[in-house]
Amino acid sequence: MENTKKPVLVSGMRPTGRLHLGNYWGALKNWVELQDKYDCYFFVADWHALTTSCEDTAALRENARLLVADWLAAGIDPAKCVIFRQSDVKAHAELFMLLGMVTPVSWLLRNPTFKEQLQELAKAKYKGQEDKMKKPEGLVKQLAEAHGHDADELALHSDMATFGFLGYPVLQAADILMYGAKYVPVGKDQLPHLELSREIARRFNHTTGQALFQEPEPLMTSVPMVPGVDGRKMSKSYGNTLELGEEPKALEAKVRKMYTDPLKIKLDDKGHPDGCVVFAFHKIYNPAWAPREAECRGGTIGCGACKKHIVELMSGPMAGQRARREAVEALGGADEILAAGGKKAAARAEEMMARVRAALKL
Ligand code: TRP
Repeated sequence: MENTKKPVLVSGMRPTGRLHLGNYWGALKNWVELQDKYDCYFFVADWHALTTSCEDTAALRENARLLVADWLAAGIDPAKCVIFRQSDVKAHAELFMLLGMVTPVSWLLRNPTFKEQLQELAKAKYKGQEDKMKKPEGLVKQLAEAHGHDADELALHSDMATFGFLGYPVLQAADILMYGAKYVPVGKDQLPHLELSREIARRFNHTTGQALFQEPEPLMTSVPMVPGVDGRKMSKSYGNTLELGEEPKALEAKVRKMYTDPLKIKLDDKGHPDGCVVFAFHKIYNPAWAPREAECRGGTIGCGACKKHIVELMSGPMAGQRARREAVEALGGADEILAAGGKKAAARAEEMMARVRAALKL
């Protein structure tokens, strides 16, 4: 590719099916802009999906296909970047294993995401006993207190704490270092993982005495706040998402359910847009959100009309996404693109692996 002079950028998403608006405004929209500036590798992190759940993998391939169809429909262009499925490039597994040799377990144990996600998993597992989860520190801490264990130690002994799950950041480091990425676009939640990638790169370079890996830098871009319909962070596991290509009926039903200012009951009640989910979407989709804010505060518009308006504003882009997705399907879907991208990525990965093996004198 004539792209090779541009800095390399790597990013992945786990295949969880259709994308929601949080995924779009938080990541994908940036990817579309980044693909012109960087030599981009965008991949489906299907092995990463296995680190938190290996039990139900029936939908994995289909979810990967749906995910990539959404990428393409949103403007990710296979002529500009390499699009592939992680499990198609086996070198990621080899590099993961070799990087594991220089990664102290203590680094992985202190990774805050490890503990937090473990709690999330525990929450899902102990559904129905949520009363036990009320404390902010969560189940792990509580059980630890009850049993007189250190929380870290207890987390480690949970049956959900697999070797693969603990090693998640090492696999992520392999994804990134494999292509000599200079940049990784990340949200705040992924920063500890990226820091580990940098530490692992440094440690490998130091151990082998060769400056093989470049330390990747986070590329933080400002993203709008995208709440779920209930006002919490938009997330599949909360069941509060709006799909990127939501059908009109579903959009209407979801907007109807959106959390609004509970103190604004009648049209002429003065509203408080700050915590209002509908207003958060006006800020994204309505160029005239500022006068709308004034109307709400002044009690000159009701929540019903405000909701109706946001449905109108959002349904156009959503219809566009659906139409472009259908066009992708009509062209045979994502399979061919993934196959071609997998070959390109594997060739690039093989170059790096030859140098890694040589550095280790294998
Ligand atoms: N951990 C990322 C997530 O959950 C996915 C991911 C895996 C990733 N490997 C990566 C992101 C490499 C950026 C670079 O969203």
